[in-house]
Amino acid sequence: MYAPTGVSDAVKVRKVTVPSLRDRKAGAGPSIAMVTAYDYTMARLLDEAGVDVVLVGDSLGMVVQGLANTLPVTLDEVCYHGRAVARGLRRAHLVGDMPFMSSQVSAEKTLESAGKMMKEGAFESVKLEGGAEMAEHVFRLVSVGIPVMGHVGLTPQSVHALGGFKVQGKSDAAAERILNDARALEQAGAYAIVLEAIPPEVASRVTESVSVPTIGIGAGRGCDGQVLVCTDLLGMSRGHTPKFAKHFAELGDAIVEATRAYVDEVRSGAFPAAEHEYRQPAVAGVDAVAWRGQSRGEST
Ligand code: KIV
Repeated sequence: MYAPTGVSDAVKVRKVTVPSLRDRKAGAGPSIAMVTAYDYTMARLLDEAGVDVVLVGDSLGMVVQGLANTLPVTLDEVCYHGRAVARGLRRAHLVGDMPFMSSQVSAEKTLESAGKMMKEGAFESVKLEGGAEMAEHVFRLVSVGIPVMGHVGLTPQSVHALGGFKVQGKSDAAAERILNDARALEQAGAYAIVLEAIPPEVASRVTESVSVPTIGIGAGRGCDGQVLVCTDLLGMSRGHTPKFAKHFAELGDAIVEATRAYVDEVRSGAFPAAEHEYRQPAVAGVDAVAWRGQSRGEST
């Protein structure tokens, strides 16, 4: 457990829970703000900023591992990142993405995978991609107490079937399928549904048609919440960024600039300066070795 700057551990934080998220359906509370994170440091900062839900997305394959898509990400990798992120959160709800082939094979395999994520990944709920075809799997998880977030529209694990990361639901028939998928997930017990890369009219229709919150990414304003990948939000991504990914900062440029300044100072000898050095106290009788250890917070 950590305390954000200026807040002591004694200060009670009202934890975001699955029931409290469900209660925030259309107008019943502020819009849900969800962001991805993959490590402790980012998780801690997002939590301090008041993010409601932190997602360890399988986007980690692309953002952290530099892969072309999310397909190779494993259950163990998601669990590893889940544990790191969990240590940084006090208030936000933690949801983990079920990686490709951990939820598709059978309801039993889905249950085993989700159980591992809750036990070994420290997740508080799981997210899985797919619609009506996943309803039985969702039902199975929910019936044993594992909360499930659905994900329809552009489902990146189907990138090859979809012919790329393309906007979905553009025809009436495709929009109808997305609506039916969302209803099937709701009926199976999903507590929220991500709507990715669909026209805003379709997202609004889905949002009005289901009793659980919808969380949009490239799905317009008509959803009950929004989700962004942290590196997009912070302007750290290089190369192509999707149209919907607003940069709320340009940390990528700031990192390059700061690191360039460091490189220059190392090369010129300006860093480290005197104030960055540990000096041995010139006091007789002080054990210099013990003193050095203590100055690093080590016990001697
Ligand atoms: O993997 C991910 O980051 C996601 C979000 C983009 C919703 O699924």
